[in-house]
Amino acid sequence: SIPVPTVQYLAMNELKEIPSRYILPKAETDRVSIDESREIPVIDLQELLHGQVGDQMASFHTACKDWGFFQLINHGVTEGIIEKIKGDAEEFFRLPLEKKKAYAQQPESIQGYGQAFVVSEEQKLDWCDTFCLRTFPIAERLAKFWPTSPPSFSETIERYVKELQELNLRLLELIAKNLGVDADKLTNTCKNGTQWFRINYYPPCPHADKVIGISPHSDASLITLLIQVNEVEGLQIKKNGTWVPVKPLPGAFIVNIGDAIEILSNGVYKSIEHRGTINPERERLSIAVFQLPTSGILVGPFEEVLGDSGAKYSTVDYDEYMKSFFGAKLEGKRALDLVKLGEI
Ligand code: SIN
Ligand code: FE2
Repeated sequence: SIPVPTVQYLAMNELKEIPSRYILPKAETDRVSIDESREIPVIDLQELLHGQVGDQMASFHTACKDWGFFQLINHGVTEGIIEKIKGDAEEFFRLPLEKKKAYAQQPESIQGYGQAFVVSEEQKLDWCDTFCLRTFPIAERLAKFWPTSPPSFSETIERYVKELQELNLRLLELIAKNLGVDADKLTNTCKNGTQWFRINYYPPCPHADKVIGISPHSDASLITLLIQVNEVEGLQIKKNGTWVPVKPLPGAFIVNIGDAIEILSNGVYKSIEHRGTINPERERLSIAVFQLPTSGILVGPFEEVLGDSGAKYSTVDYDEYMKSFFGAKLEGKRALDLVKLGEI
């Protein structure tokens, strides 16, 4: 990625004018249509695992098929660890710039402290700083990016991502069940799989409606698990051409189906476009954990879900897919559309 200023420090300098690289084209700011009347579904994991056969599983199927996004409650992840990771993440972003820069991204990688998806000098930039780690497989961890400040941070991340990896496996098993696919077939796609951890830090902006925190995109993951750190909201998902704001429930995970599941399920489940908006007065933080297929594997529609019309997606080398995904600025479902056209 190309070095750009940290947005946190841009925002601190009482900007008279927002640099033009952050200002969205007028066409994009005009096209805001928000639908406050709907909310993403809520799914109860304990009900899924132990409830009346069928009930919650049917809701789960609908959530994955018609929404691609849901809030997960009773998920079993230790409450203490969630509070701890939120606190440590906030503390990390409060560190002076020089301390954070010890973890600065290096060329060609999004790992560390910096910005995601900066690929050219000309592109529009998101109003967001990130801190990103590759957390699995363990052998791929780069110790120099694991923070020593706040002191507990690395240990907290380690515990958090481990619990979320287990939760992802439970969700994948349930997804396989609903798709009529052997659970091992789906969980094997991420055996020793890749996992990324990312904190998104969105500073306030006095011209919040002219900038975007994170451009509309779908995730390249199998599954993404997101938490919002403070009470400032900003995530919106695209539903029938309008943006539906997500109103996080305390303690819940916001779960979304990623591109890999859309491909594996032959489009039965959808990887939904979403974006992050900016608050004019308050900073916003979120923490995302992306579970990705194992490096080197081929990802294509399962034969069990092909139906009469056959494969709607080509089978892709997922490393190639990731290259295409990160090789351009975030833009809707660009990379996934290329798979549909057979161009990756
Ligand atoms: C993301 O899509 O990674 C960010 C979502 C958010 O900050 O709520
Ligand atoms: Fe995302």
